[in-house]
Amino acid sequence: MTNRPALPAEIARRRTFAIISHPDAGKTTLTEKFLLFGGAIQMAGQVRAKGEARRTRSDFMQMEKDRGISVSASAMSFDYKHFRYNLVDTPGHSDFSEDTYRTLTAVDAAVMVIDGAKGVESQTRKLFEVCRLRDLPILTFCNKMDRESRDTFEIIDEIQENLAIDVTPASWPIGTGRDFIGCYDILRDRLDIMDRADRNTVAASVEIKGLDDPKWEEYVPERLLAQFREEIEMAKELLPKLDPKAVLEGTMTPIWFGSAINSFGVRELMEGISQYGPEPQPQTAQPRTILPEEKNVTGFVFKVQANMDPKHRDRVAFVRMASGHFTRGQKLTHVRTKKQMAISNPVLFLASDRELAEEAWAGDIIGIPNHGQLRIGDTLTEGEVLNVKGIPSFAPELLQGVRSGDPLKSKHLEKALMQFAEEGAAKVFKPSFGSGFIVGVVGPLQFEVLASRIELEYGLPVRFEQSQFTSARWVSGDKIAVEKFSTANKLHIGTDSDGDTVYLTRLQWDIDRVGRDYPDINLTATKEMMAE
Ligand code: G4P
Repeated sequence: MTNRPALPAEIARRRTFAIISHPDAGKTTLTEKFLLFGGAIQMAGQVRAKGEARRTRSDFMQMEKDRGISVSASAMSFDYKHFRYNLVDTPGHSDFSEDTYRTLTAVDAAVMVIDGAKGVESQTRKLFEVCRLRDLPILTFCNKMDRESRDTFEIIDEIQENLAIDVTPASWPIGTGRDFIGCYDILRDRLDIMDRADRNTVAASVEIKGLDDPKWEEYVPERLLAQFREEIEMAKELLPKLDPKAVLEGTMTPIWFGSAINSFGVRELMEGISQYGPEPQPQTAQPRTILPEEKNVTGFVFKVQANMDPKHRDRVAFVRMASGHFTRGQKLTHVRTKKQMAISNPVLFLASDRELAEEAWAGDIIGIPNHGQLRIGDTLTEGEVLNVKGIPSFAPELLQGVRSGDPLKSKHLEKALMQFAEEGAAKVFKPSFGSGFIVGVVGPLQFEVLASRIELEYGLPVRFEQSQFTSARWVSGDKIAVEKFSTANKLHIGTDSDGDTVYLTRLQWDIDRVGRDYPDINLTATKEMMAE
């Protein structure tokens, strides 16, 4: 895409990204500081305070708190200097990886936060792998440098070896733990000093002319300076220089060192995102790729969230704008149903408040309240038939039956399950024999979350119980072959919430057998979420 003309300025200034990290590395704290510098909140502590207030309202949120996980994803927008940042929140727990995967289809880059004392942790690695599948550019923030941390070279080595990506230092820490005084900003030749006293202001940044500037002695104690000089010499020799092209291709990550809680290193990271992070990128679609600079508006749904406010039974479809300049009230074609929708009350998310979005450009994320028409994978256009690709649905790894505590309310249960299926929170299968549903998820914690949400949002106590099936596969092939296969395997056949045929079984052996006995039938573990 190198020969494309420059993007319109409004689009070129957008940076749409997600933060990936292992729980506790500091994602919430860093998000809060982004919002603080972006002017979206006035005071640090607000995101958390709001979080606490929310948590006292519901058991579901209580569970998030108890388990230290964030279940509900959202998107937030803020400005800093000339740039508009759209930060899409990813659920941190591994049980929600499918949701995370879809979230990452809506961003152009990821910020990877690691804890300086812990390095690359299990969840960091998993999320990183998901980013790699899409060649997403990754910028790294090594957090908690105010505490005792690992040796800088060791951290960098670990990232390089564990994640197989080149690492280039954008800054270099001076001293560790109690001795940590700040960082040398390699990219801008500045010395940034951390102020431990005030968590909301950023400490001094001193312009330095190279490593021999006499100002170094003024700010850095001799003992630390000698070690720093030695390290930076070694770093220059051993580590690759920043190559912006390699960063955009996802083969190199620049790393900043800092302390989110002390607001230290955060602004440098934000500037790094604007300077080295990508502009809104083209979107793969059928039958053609969508370019962000196209005049016509297009967007796609990557997440649906129901009951965001328990008092209003609304559903919000999160839409990533793929091209053009959208204005409030505009009519867009919902490609799957071929119907026009007037988008009259789209919302932008600023911290946890919602605001009406008067306009949106390619790269932005807007929320469209609706009554269930908009589903994950749906594309909106100005009339052209385009379907955004690459938003998969994965076969669940765990299946359970579900039983309502109140047998008279089975219709309610069906409604609740269908809603969660549309949200992408679970797969719901209806076996072709017998009554009842089978619910499939990626991780066991999701059953608890679902049970808690069904009770909270529908007033319906439910029990999940062992199912006779452990695997589900989507069935495809020509119509007659599928019908023949379904009739012959009646006890294994069901439908998903879109009405597509699935094959349910306990045994891998069964799946292999189908492969041998029915050469015209395909059993797949993923299904592209897309209109026909
Ligand atoms: P997460 O969203 O990635 O799970 O992490 P979060 O920001 O909630 O941070 C996890 C813990 O690490 C919090 O402490 C937070 O205050 C602390 N933390 C974040 N950044 C830094 C940092 O730069 N330095 C140090 N020393 N600590 C940091 P907590 O005790 O769990 O919560 P709280 O009581 O501080 O709110």
